[in-house]
Amino acid sequence: MKIDIFGLEKKVIYIAILLSVVHLSLIAFAVFRLGITVPGCVLNPKPFEKAEIIKHGDKRYELRMIAKMWAFEPKIVRLPVGSTLEIFMTSKDVNHGFQIVGTNINVMAVPGVMTQAEITFNNPGAYRIVCNEFCGIGHQEMNGVIEIDPNIEEPQISNGYQQVAAAGFNLDEHPGKKAMDKFGCVACHSLDGSVVVGPSFKGLFGKREEMASGEKVLVDETYLRASISDPQKQVVKGFSIQMPVTPMTPEELNHIVELIKAIK
Ligand code: CUA
Repeated sequence: MKIDIFGLEKKVIYIAILLSVVHLSLIAFAVFRLGITVPGCVLNPKPFEKAEIIKHGDKRYELRMIAKMWAFEPKIVRLPVGSTLEIFMTSKDVNHGFQIVGTNINVMAVPGVMTQAEITFNNPGAYRIVCNEFCGIGHQEMNGVIEIDPNIEEPQISNGYQQVAAAGFNLDEHPGKKAMDKFGCVACHSLDGSVVVGPSFKGLFGKREEMASGEKVLVDETYLRASISDPQKQVVKGFSIQMPVTPMTPEELNHIVELIKAIK
């Protein structure tokens, strides 16, 4: 049997052209008819320093979101039903992923760069946010939520520290919190009672903790100071990941101890 190579090649080329046309038409259909926007990257940006939400019109908001080891700022975004959110993302440290579960929003957060995506929320509900790129030991803690609330008219954002705010001081202004952010303490020790890698700081002061050795120890100032300076000396039972020695000034140590005492 004689095979017509030239004819066969022609057929392959025609099929390839046809598939390309179909493919491009589907993209055009998604963009122009379905209104699905492709996430973009803003070139030559001036990355913002502060997380905030800015109103641009009726139910149109710009969200400036910061990813960092290991949290999103803001962690909680509340919006009225029908809001269109233009999201700008950047990272303070390493590459993170930003995904709104159940939607087609999935962008990267890259230091020095702003990525952008837009989405409209027509249905009330809670949409979870997760970091979907492995970014270090606290990666699994990087999450948040977008709540579409039929009972609100104006958007609200928060970093999810309400329990601590109830203690009667502004956490973000506390010098201990600044020191904790600097050394990344909260990546492993939560402030809200949830257990991450190490014991939570909430309600820790004054507690009797059982050590890996079986010994019971009162968490007082002496214990806190000793544990921060020499983390391996007395390890609480059930926590096996080694805490790194964190070199800090005596002042920073004081601030951190004061904050732990204050988080009841
Ligand atoms: Cu950030 Cu994983």
